[in-house]
Amino acid sequence: MTAVAEPLLSLSQYYLPVYRPRQLVLERGQGARLWDTQGREFIDLAAGIAVCSLGHNNPDLKAALLAQADKLWHTSNMFYSEPPLHLAQELVEASRFASRVFLCNSGAEANEVAIKLVRKWAAAQGRPPEKRVIVTFRGSFHGRTLATVTATAQPKYQEGYEPLPGGFRYADFNDVAQLEAAMAGGDVAAVMFEPVQGEGGVMPASAEFMRRARELCDQHDALLVLDEIQVGMGRTGQLFAHWNWGVTPDIVSLAKALGGGFPVGAMLAGPKVAEVMGVGAHGTTFGGNPLAAAVARVALRTLASDAIKANVARQSAALKAGLEAIGAEFGVFEQVRGMGLMIGAVLKPEYVADIGALLDLAAEKQVLILQAGTSVLRFVPPLNITDEELAEGLKRVREAIAAYVASR
Ligand SMILES: Cc1ncc(COP(=O)(O)O)c(C=O)c1O
Repeated sequence: MTAVAEPLLSLSQYYLPVYRPRQLVLERGQGARLWDTQGREFIDLAAGIAVCSLGHNNPDLKAALLAQADKLWHTSNMFYSEPPLHLAQELVEASRFASRVFLCNSGAEANEVAIKLVRKWAAAQGRPPEKRVIVTFRGSFHGRTLATVTATAQPKYQEGYEPLPGGFRYADFNDVAQLEAAMAGGDVAAVMFEPVQGEGGVMPASAEFMRRARELCDQHDALLVLDEIQVGMGRTGQLFAHWNWGVTPDIVSLAKALGGGFPVGAMLAGPKVAEVMGVGAHGTTFGGNPLAAAVARVALRTLASDAIKANVARQSAALKAGLEAIGAEFGVFEQVRGMGLMIGAVLKPEYVADIGALLDLAAEKQVLILQAGTSVLRFVPPLNITDEELAEGLKRVREAIAAYVASR
């Protein structure tokens, strides 16, 4: 798509070819804007897959990182340092449910320890391994390690990696009857899902499903594990996504926006499970790294602010209205759905096969968007995106859709 071939692109031959990035090389960013090595400017409605929630080159995050870089980079968890100690306290206090935190480096790692904690909790109760089943849902995405890819109830991520770890059972998302049936045997230790499925297609849990999931977990003495890696940290307009449903989980996993672009993950454990893992039960060399924690403290404080909450509500309404208008003008969308600034535009079946071409066209029109599932255009912009940036992004999305429709 570039007028002049970018020579750096040839270096991608050295990558394990597991990704299919758009053919551009990004060089710098500011707010919700990015520039590539050829000087072209893009509106970023992808935010590094819901990571750069405070935009690019955020001055407060940068100041925290640089100040910490002057002091101490790494200690391992054999020694304490200040930033992760404070971050742990701040996460616990912000969460309103957790009593302890495990800090790590990524989403998959946060879910991995969540899964291990479920198993350890069930084991501590004397439940045999076959009674430590974790129920997860079709369309979910929980990560790429062997346990989290097994929790991810989508064959396309699992094929070829068998044998997969045992002890997972799948049900349809938002299907209360299937969840009841999955738990009826009394062998379930946890139910795990994303309050809004992200990679699967931007699909929120129904109020009924969330409520019954909590009730069934209580009834069967199972844990409710919520994966808020993509949807948490302000994206729905609430710091924690589950606040929208008024449920109390036992475990929540976080990553992505928590570091605002610096890799960090966290697993928050409620009182029922917080004391289960003792010394040596789990660990990580880099988790709770002082640089990551220093940035995450500022990100957490900012993402919890009223200003972010108000902006998410304002821009969410504008994004939905803009996409609905584009859908009405060109007749390409079946539905616009989602919460806060996690919005999916579902393509009509006749356009689904062209979703890759649509993403290419969007990049050509200098707006970056994502795919979710097979048929959904996903919009997860920075939560501090301005009116002007969003309006410009929508204008470019409209141009991309117009160009696509004209080319058919
Ligand atoms: C809901 C959810 N859980 C887990 C993960 C895995 O996170 P990571 O890629 O940081 O391992 C993702 C990543 O997209 C996600 O969206």
